[in-house]
Amino acid sequence: MIEPLTDLGGFALASNATLAGRNTLRVDARANLLVEVRDPTKLPEVLAYPAVAQGPVFVLGEGSNVLFTGDYRGTVLVMATQGVEVFDRDDHVLLRVAAGERWDDFVRWSLGKGYAGLENLIMIPGTVGAAPIQNIGAYGVEVGEFIDSIEAYDRQAQAFVTLDRHACAFSYRNSTMKHQPDRWIIVAVTFALPRTPRLRLDYAGIGEELTAMGVEKPAPFHIAEAVVRLRSRKLPDPAVIGNAGSFFKNPIVSAAQAQALQLAHPGLPAWPHAGGTAKLSAAWLIEAAGLKGHRDGDAGISGRHALVLVNHGKASGPQLLAFARKVQAAVATRFGVQLEPEPVFAG
Ligand code: FAD
Ligand code: EPU
Repeated sequence: MIEPLTDLGGFALASNATLAGRNTLRVDARANLLVEVRDPTKLPEVLAYPAVAQGPVFVLGEGSNVLFTGDYRGTVLVMATQGVEVFDRDDHVLLRVAAGERWDDFVRWSLGKGYAGLENLIMIPGTVGAAPIQNIGAYGVEVGEFIDSIEAYDRQAQAFVTLDRHACAFSYRNSTMKHQPDRWIIVAVTFALPRTPRLRLDYAGIGEELTAMGVEKPAPFHIAEAVVRLRSRKLPDPAVIGNAGSFFKNPIVSAAQAQALQLAHPGLPAWPHAGGTAKLSAAWLIEAAGLKGHRDGDAGISGRHALVLVNHGKASGPQLLAFARKVQAAVATRFGVQLEPEPVFAG
């Protein structure tokens, strides 16, 4: 359920607001104050509002990567801004997109306009403003590769600023902004999409899916369809069962540790990663620890994908957190690997 908000011109608010319909894990939490910002120039005014200024502020998108561990004793601020602007350049196009646009709508719109590049990232839930935070990635592509710059309100400097891609320091599920959650409010993201796309077909499953579709010479929209088919099969739908996608990151370990683990546990997938490290499959570790499909009350691990924590009904934030801790402990005991949660905790 989403409660009605009082419109104050450019922004709207509600006090003691429910967040139950605003997070895909479907945790029934509340916020002291909920503010939807519809005009980004109003941000300084909103942040100076006494009821906002006196407590913490959490920026929320669609809540598809958040675990509310309790009620939020402060302001939950949603960037509800819309719009896409197009700037043609010689060998690429620049697309400036408002933070509140839905990511998947934008990907589909860009493909429809003939702009390629984002096809592997189709069907990821959430907003455009949240995409740079953890540098969303899927099927061999990370969004940071296509980000030209972000426009944000810097709460520390109390000014609107532009950060180029290098300042964002994108890496696997990480960015500068992720480390400074109390500082940046992203208002728009500018993407640079090349005119000549480089198709990315190397991720396991894409080639097989294209073959099953009878496609020999894939175009970007074929890849998008292949990814939609793969994701629909593998991942539980948050509209059907509460979840936040992968609940843990794939652990990065030294190449030597990966080799030793693979020797002891044949079948454990490991992929070469930056700086001579290796990325392990967290899903495999959780499944091998016997937890796939396991549940404690309404908190559980999906029977479809071992990396997805699910809310079967009325699990609370603390119950989901306790179950996640149990999964971490089981994997640490069995394999000596520490799993790190992917979603952001709030409350
Ligand atoms: P939220 O969950 O609301 O917020 C996430 C973080 O971003 C929080 O720290 C929040 O404070 C911050 N934030 C949000 N908006 C702003 C803003 N405007 N300014 C500053 N900070 C902001 N992720 C992947 O990378 N790859 C996947 O393949 C993938 N698949 C998923 C599948 C499912 C079924 C689900 C439920 C989730 C999946 N995710 C995936 C995770 C999630 O979709 C992404 O992390 C997404 O970017 C979150 O967007 P959101 O708007 O819901 O952000
Ligand atoms: N696997 C299992 N058991 C399972 C599921 C998977 O053992 O139940 C093993 C299989 O060996 C499989 C391997 O794990 O080959 C990898 O599985 P998958 O291709 O589904 O990818 P993932 O590593 O589990 C990552 C991302 C996803 C992203 C997919 C596709 C992370 C934490 N997760 O999952 O992102 O969609 O790759 O690129 O990196 C998310 O971040 O929320 C998310 C869904």
